[in-house]
Formats: sequence, structure tokens, C-alpha cells
Amino acid sequence: MMDVWEAIRTKRAIRHFTNDPLPDEVVERILDAGRRSQSSKNSQPWQFVAVRDRDTLQKLSRMGDYLSHVAGAALCVVILVPAENERSAWHMFDAGQSASYMQLAAQAMGVGSCLGTIYQPEATRDLLGFPADWQARLLISFGYPDPNHERQGQGKAGRQNFDEVVHWDRW
Ligand SMILES: Cc1cc2nc3c(=O)[nH]c(=O)nc-3n(C[C@H](O)[C@H](O)[C@H](O)COP(=O)(O)O)c2cc1C
Repeated sequence: MMDVWEAIRTKRAIRHFTNDPLPDEVVERILDAGRRSQSSKNSQPWQFVAVRDRDTLQKLSRMGDYLSHVAGAALCVVILVPAENERSAWHMFDAGQSASYMQLAAQAMGVGSCLGTIYQPEATRDLLGFPADWQARLLISFGYPDPNHERQGQGKAGRQNFDEVVHWDRW
């Protein structure tokens, strides 16, 4: 299994997946990584809806403008956070942490992933049936990278240079 640095260094968004299902233990490890992630005051302000049903995956792929990667995924984890309130900024930060943990755990097991933004939270609620005190804004597709899209994940990471983002001691 690859180490943490290798997972961070090599992780790219993967949007095309093989038809292979993910073994149950792989799915459980991904979700457990999310469950174990840190959060403000250890509030753990999340619920995860783990979708493997193909029909539901296809419907989820229509809940945003850039969610086509969901339709062919082996697993989609919809991250729920509490309905909008004064702590929502922290809830979204914490949800992002759980997303990173899940994606890096997946990467370490050779599983690709891609985040997705939900533009239709109410239709997503109807589809998944969660209560009104939760909201869905983000999801993550998971699956084995499709080798027929061999260039995906291979490109140079479009990241800012180290010196462009790091300030030592003061700006
Ligand atoms: C908050 C957030 C929302 C995102 N929403 C989408 C999305 O709706 N659809 C999509 O294809 N990618 C989405 N992405 C993935 C980003 O496009 C991707 O992480 C970024 O371009 C870096 O890709 P790379 O690691 O392959 O360089 C999202 C990423 C984040 C962090």
C-alpha cells in the first residue's frame, strides 16, 4: 500500500471508471476514513450516503452541471452536513476534511475519485430521502481508473509553484 506522501503526490481527479465493483472491504475503508477525520470541536457534522445502485448513480449525475463522472462510478458518497446555520462555514470545512481523508484512503488502495458539486440539493434530498435538517452540497465518485482513458490523472498537476503560495514568517 502506498504511503501518505505518495498518495498526496499522485492523486488527480479521476472521472472515468472501469465497470468493476469495489470490494466491500475497500468501500468500508473509504467510509471509515471519512468517519475518522478531524472536525471542529470534534463535532463530526456529517452523514454519508453510500450509493452503489446504478439507477441512483445515474440520477445523481443529473443533480449538478459537472457530475457526469457519477453515472459510471462504482460508488458515490454523498456528504451530508447540517442544514444552513451560523456554523455552516465550519461544517463545510469539516466536510472537506472528510472528503480528503476518503479520497486519500482510496488513492492509497488504487481507487480513483472525483469530487462533485450538487446544484440541486432539494432534488437530491427527494432522491435519497434524508431529513430536512441535513443538506447535500458535495459528493465523491469512486472507482478503478479506466485504462481506456489513460491520459486521465497523468497530466502535470496544474498547481501553483511552492514559492507562489508559501510565505515564511510573514507575507
Ligand atoms: C469543492 C470542490 C468541488 C468540485 N466540484 C467538481 C464538479 O462538480 N465536477 C467535477 O468534475 N470536478 C469537481 N471538482 C474536482 C476539481 O475540478 C479538481 O479537484 C481540480 O480540478 C484538481 O484536479 P487534479 O487534482 O486532477 O489536478 C471539485 C473539487 C472541489 C474541491
